[in-house]
Amino acid sequence: MATSREMARRARELRELIENHNYRYYVLDDPQVSDAQFDALMRELRQIESAHPELADPDSPTQRVGGQASREFREVVHAVPMLSLDNAFSEQDILDFDRRARERLDVAAIAYSAEPKIDGLAITLHYQQGRLVQAATRGDGSRGEDVTVNVRAIRSVPIQLRGRHPPAVLEARGEVFMTRKSFEALNRRQSERGDKTFANPRNAAAGSLRQLDPTITAERSLDLFFYGVGATEGWRVPPRHSELLAALRDFGLRTCPEIDVVDGVEGCLAYYRRIGGRRDKLAYDIDGVVYKVDRLDWQRDLGFVARAPRWAVAYKFPAQEETTVVHDVQFYVGRTGALTPVAHVVPVFVGGVTVSNITLHNMDEVARKDVRIGDTVVVRRAGDVIPEIVRVIPEKRPHDARSVKLPARCPVCNSHVDRTEGEAVARCSGGLVCAAQRLGAIRHFASRRAMDVDGLGERLVEQLIESGRVATPADLYTLTVAEVAELERMGPRSAANLVAALAKSKQTTLPRFLYALGIRDVGEATALALAEHFGDLDPLQAASFEEVQEVRDVGPVVAGHVREFFAEERNRLVIKNLRAAGVTWPVIERAVTVAEGPLTGQVVVITGTLATMSREQAREAARAAGATVTDSVSKKTTLLVVGADAGSKLKKAQDLGVRIADEAEFRQLLDRSGPAR
Ligand code: IVH
Repeated sequence: MATSREMARRARELRELIENHNYRYYVLDDPQVSDAQFDALMRELRQIESAHPELADPDSPTQRVGGQASREFREVVHAVPMLSLDNAFSEQDILDFDRRARERLDVAAIAYSAEPKIDGLAITLHYQQGRLVQAATRGDGSRGEDVTVNVRAIRSVPIQLRGRHPPAVLEARGEVFMTRKSFEALNRRQSERGDKTFANPRNAAAGSLRQLDPTITAERSLDLFFYGVGATEGWRVPPRHSELLAALRDFGLRTCPEIDVVDGVEGCLAYYRRIGGRRDKLAYDIDGVVYKVDRLDWQRDLGFVARAPRWAVAYKFPAQEETTVVHDVQFYVGRTGALTPVAHVVPVFVGGVTVSNITLHNMDEVARKDVRIGDTVVVRRAGDVIPEIVRVIPEKRPHDARSVKLPARCPVCNSHVDRTEGEAVARCSGGLVCAAQRLGAIRHFASRRAMDVDGLGERLVEQLIESGRVATPADLYTLTVAEVAELERMGPRSAANLVAALAKSKQTTLPRFLYALGIRDVGEATALALAEHFGDLDPLQAASFEEVQEVRDVGPVVAGHVREFFAEERNRLVIKNLRAAGVTWPVIERAVTVAEGPLTGQVVVITGTLATMSREQAREAARAAGATVTDSVSKKTTLLVVGADAGSKLKKAQDLGVRIADEAEFRQLLDRSGPAR
């Protein structure tokens, strides 16, 4: 058994070790042990303290989250007021600030401490003989609130300063903040619990610091960077601000690693650009940079005006986040026919520009963010990134907020809108007629692997569209040499060449033609498969969804797109006009002839897992036996073959009264007259 003397020694040792590891981790950013090793030390200390209550110490690292949850925060009068900073918004403001300071000091150049302006809350920590005795918020600058128990819960804050001879009094001042990562994690937890979320890390930090229950503060992981001092006693203050910060670090007080000493105003502006460029990569939000005259004797000479020092200034960045109101959501059709919901917001100045339209990308995004018309939203524009709606502020949702509905018809051409289940993007199905898709559709139509119209480049297509001469691919075939010759940079010769190339392209093949139509997901291989299966366009146009699915490698999604395309009357009209203009192809001998066999005339669906063959083998076998095989159960289905774990298809077939066969029965059906297996 260890004696209690030994235990006391071990407890002391552990406390020192733990504080030391905290210092290495938070202040030096150079941890010596893994998190697991650190936790083991904490565990050991907790065990000793609970087995030996006489060793308890309110300053033990195990006691960070102690103290009483009070019902209110006591008021604290600041011995040295907590001032604010003058703001600068332009280079000129900084040039003026530097010039005024130099003139007052009568010096040629000033070295500045250049620091990120952390977007959090100012706080002051009172250390007596090295021990944290009080922490207070800034409040109005003269009086703040006592938040000692909460600040003790911040792990990067030392309860005891490092070093043998701490000052009798040291009031260390800095900024409490929350990293973006902690903020996002907190908001996630809040919304999972159905609690209110925070609009930004700053509000989250403020809310967490002003928690009456310090255990909540502890779980919300706040951080703190120190940037100066208030009252001090029994300490030789170093001659420069940068040295003062180094001394704070030696005491175990964390400072921002981005702080630098720069020369003159040029150095200040270069620092602003440097930090500004990295703003989004920092782990925390900053709203500008702060310049402080580095020499403290010069700071004293410059003094204060009103509530701000003459020796420091904050050069603010344009705000990256603002709130505004969504007054409408409209849908825009892109070149590929994709419908994009765009939020129209009350214009707001954010990230240095005025924003009034913000893309919501697709309907999944609208649903995920739950944006409704009338909502107040947080808008973010960071760097050159396009503005985005970060989140809705649910508390501000008006009663008459309207949800965003995907239109059934294309806002540009009125064709119906096709949204495949499980896909985020909705598209206009009027590929051949939609003005928004015209350029892309016609370029594709004329491209080498499609109709192969020589000499019809993008610029020329643009001119033809802009002049109003061409709206659909069919219009290409009505162009005359004289008309084309009138276009910019077109002579009679190139015009004649183009018209000849168009005429030549009329003799095509069915696969090329199908590919040229630009049906969604129908590439060259699928076009070829469709052409070979149906032999000509008319049977394909007339084919049902199930019949299209019969084609090799065509599943329900592509079959759906094919059906949607031909179902659109406007597309059919363009095709009719193309044929009327003379576009033709040789009919293809149907490669797939329906086999004669025991399943001739049957429409078969196979579902579930079969024991003796793969589903594809089963499909092949059914086809070889003369059946038409499709993927989904419908009224036309005559036989459903079920393997293990069949799902909704079985239920549907039962509802429709379709004949159902298990694997053994299916084999019997196949074998009835086929060759012996
Ligand atoms: S110095 C007398 N340094 O900005 C100078 N403030 O607008 C006192 N802040 O209340 C402040 N980062 O909350 C200083 N590196 C920094 C800062 C900083 C953020 C905040 C602080 C202060 C406010 C002044």
